[in-house]
Amino acid sequence: MSASLLEVDDLHVRYGGIAAVRGLSLYVAPGEVVSIIGPNGAGKSTTLAAIAGGVVPMSGRIRLAGADLMGQRPEQIARAGVSLVPEGRHIFATLTVEENLAIGTYMRADRKGVADEIKAIFQTFPRLDERRKAPAGQLSGGEQQMLVIARAVLTRPRLLMVDEPSLGLAPLIVDQVYATLLELRRRDGLALLIVEQSSHRILKHADRIYVVRDGCKQLEDRAANLKNEAIKRAYFGFEGAA
Ligand SMILES: Nc1ncnc2c1ncn2[C@@H]1O[C@H](COP(=O)(O)OP(=O)(O)OP(=O)(O)O)[C@@H](O)[C@H]1O
Ligand SMILES: [Mg+2]
Repeated sequence: MSASLLEVDDLHVRYGGIAAVRGLSLYVAPGEVVSIIGPNGAGKSTTLAAIAGGVVPMSGRIRLAGADLMGQRPEQIARAGVSLVPEGRHIFATLTVEENLAIGTYMRADRKGVADEIKAIFQTFPRLDERRKAPAGQLSGGEQQMLVIARAVLTRPRLLMVDEPSLGLAPLIVDQVYATLLELRRRDGLALLIVEQSSHRILKHADRIYVVRDGCKQLEDRAANLKNEAIKRAYFGFEGAA
């Protein structure tokens, strides 16, 4: 058995005639922050969906702490400790912040534990605490991103996957979202797998980076070792402009 929390090996996913992921392998160690970056249509979201059980891969292996996740249903994968925050900040606009958070706990029987954790969540996300009675539809984009992350954390994942958390947010707000994600890693020892289209901000927050293009891994390295030129080359397939 290896020391990885998540291991994805030679993953292939197709949508009918489209090969979206072609032999991708990656791993996430416990407590690690790993990012997958790549252009439009690279297969990033499909990879996360396959790990979470939302799409069924054609072949490959997906393991969490050594246990096989391939072919398991999304609820089983969630119970095993994987939580996915999909792209697009899916909130219940007319429900309050508190009510949206309660939805993150529907799988859990320990109500007292849940109440304590919601309290802890409000400490980690003070902005959500201030707005706890507000309809979620009235929150800003950054606050909504915090809300969907907070909701995912209440399912008590060991691995939290977030698809394009910075999409459409101002740089300052992006930094706040990342600060919160890193705080969750510090607080709970959460491992994070974060998809982004651009490496601009992720480089300073991630431990390791995978660059994918056309469903294939082009580059993997520790963020500290990566130079912008190498990323560009992997990302575009040539030394194009950023
Ligand atoms: N539900 C689907 N049905 C058919 N093809 C799909 C579906 N979802 C994605 N694809 C195709 O699979 C490929 C990979 O898409 P995917 O959404 O995983 O890429 P991505 O890297 O997340 O892109 P983006 O940065 O635009 O979000 C693309 O060619 C896309 O058009
Ligand atoms: Mg995507």
